[in-house]
Amino acid sequence: MSDPAGVPVIAVDGPAASGKGTVAAGVARALGFHLLDSGALYRLVALKALRTATGLDDAAALARLAAGLDVRFGNGGVWLDGDDATAAIRSEAVGVAASQVAVHAGVRAALLERQRAFRQPPGLVADGRDMGTVVFPDAPVKLFVTASAEERARRRHKQLIEKGISVTLESLLRELLDRDARDSARAAAPLKAAADAAILDTTALTIDAAIAFVLERYRARVGSSPGR
Ligand code: DC
Repeated sequence: MSDPAGVPVIAVDGPAASGKGTVAAGVARALGFHLLDSGALYRLVALKALRTATGLDDAAALARLAAGLDVRFGNGGVWLDGDDATAAIRSEAVGVAASQVAVHAGVRAALLERQRAFRQPPGLVADGRDMGTVVFPDAPVKLFVTASAEERARRRHKQLIEKGISVTLESLLRELLDRDARDSARAAAPLKAAADAAILDTTALTIDAAIAFVLERYRARVGSSPGR
């Protein structure tokens, strides 16, 4: 086992539909790093809670459920209790429920070590809300990726329409603003930029330009050799 503290982490935090997931995946691919999609863990807890009719406000039951979650990541997909849950966790309903289970400190604590275990050589790109503030506070590179709420709603709308799911732009915007408010206002690890994070506003940026910005920052702070 290598010393995890010596493995570089690029923490990519930000609100829903800011482009952080796409940017994180692109940076991980460019550097050959592992990728942690921490939102997927909260979505899995939410999916399991919905499937087992566990109340989204039942903090103790949700913390137990999170601690015992049977999850496997691989080949770009995720398995819950042995079943492929890759598509199921992406629904808007599961996203909203994920934001609700994520307010509970016990759920967050139960997922902490699971997230830190992704820190493996040659490096990790970690995507979420509290990667730079709580999970990897010593990450040498921290980004806070954001975009205007209107632009984020437009992007999410386009994605859903392409998937054949019909929703209105107005309802998506309302839902995004609700989710931002809940993620930012909660007491446990709220969505906020780490003091040492660079703010990356993607409203008028292409994906490639956003990825290039992060790679440049990584090279400036850590150097060009992955793993140092
Ligand atoms: O990034 P996402 O949309 O898949 O995340 C779904 C929800 O999970 C989000 O609204 C809040 C929660 N979440 C969190 O609280 N902390 C994280 N590190 C990642 C996600």
